[in-house]
Amino acid sequence: MDELKQVIYDVEKNRISIDDAVSENGVLPLMKHISWQFDKLPHMLITGGVGVGKTYFMLTIIKACVGMGADVRILDPKNEVLAELKGVLTKKVYSEKDGILTGLRKSVDGMIERMDEMEQMPNYKIGDNYACLGLNPVFIFFDEYEGFMDLLDMKERNEALSYVKQLVMLGRQVGYFLVLGAQRPDARYLADGIRDQFSFCVSLGLETGRGYANFGTGSVLEFYSPIVPKGYDFMSSIKKSLVGVEGAQATAVASGSVSDQTASGEGVSEANG
Ligand SMILES: Nc1ncnc2c1ncn2[C@@H]1O[C@H](COP(=O)(O)OP(=O)(O)O)[C@@H](O)[C@H]1O
Ligand SMILES: [Mg+2]
Repeated sequence: MDELKQVIYDVEKNRISIDDAVSENGVLPLMKHISWQFDKLPHMLITGGVGVGKTYFMLTIIKACVGMGADVRILDPKNEVLAELKGVLTKKVYSEKDGILTGLRKSVDGMIERMDEMEQMPNYKIGDNYACLGLNPVFIFFDEYEGFMDLLDMKERNEALSYVKQLVMLGRQVGYFLVLGAQRPDARYLADGIRDQFSFCVSLGLETGRGYANFGTGSVLEFYSPIVPKGYDFMSSIKKSLVGVEGAQATAVASGSVSDQTASGEGVSEANG
């Protein structure tokens, strides 16, 4: 085996399965030697052309986030794959133009409300993040980002850009994390300092599910997204993760170990459906 093949083989053997991408204590394993510590490296950017595995990778992270009891919102402009989760994540899925703008606005409102709420907590100290105060992380999955931005007129685009910018600039401390999927890392829609706020960047496209990850120290590593078995049923596995978490929370409430504060404050009651 020549040297290059050896390197590729070594990296590929670190690939994990979707079943092992299970998050504990703020660490989400993505390969045997790479995990996403979202509190330290907030916001993920996933780029690559059509069919390279961006949406599958997002679904894998969605499953992990649901499984850790996070508040998950989905923005799927094309109303395709991710939007199918409408039946599972009730009132948390937004699609089409007005829906996406609404989902973004509500997320920003919720984030700002949470900032105030955190400061008013009796145990709050400057520098505390959401986790110190027992709050749940909120993950916003936004697929087909630049395709969506292309559809907007100037006023709408400025509005959307302002929401995205606020989320990535202010989200870390209060536990609002954006996971963005885009075909091109288009400078126009990630300009103005937005792109720099994504601490974990994955570009896929060497082949399906394979590419590079760039995070933390700025070193670029070869990356494989967790393998999803043929015929895998995301809907039922995400549903199962959700039921598992709700069951655990119900048990915790019954035994008095969950405070009211862990319930999400703002409620997304008017998600378009
Ligand atoms: N991690 C993976 N494991 C197994 N198959 C994958 C994986 N990622 C993608 N695929 C395959 O590639 C196809 C395209 O992936 P998809 O996520 O829809 O691409 P994109 O969103 O980048 O257009 C999927 O339908 C699936 O068959
Ligand atoms: Mg896709």
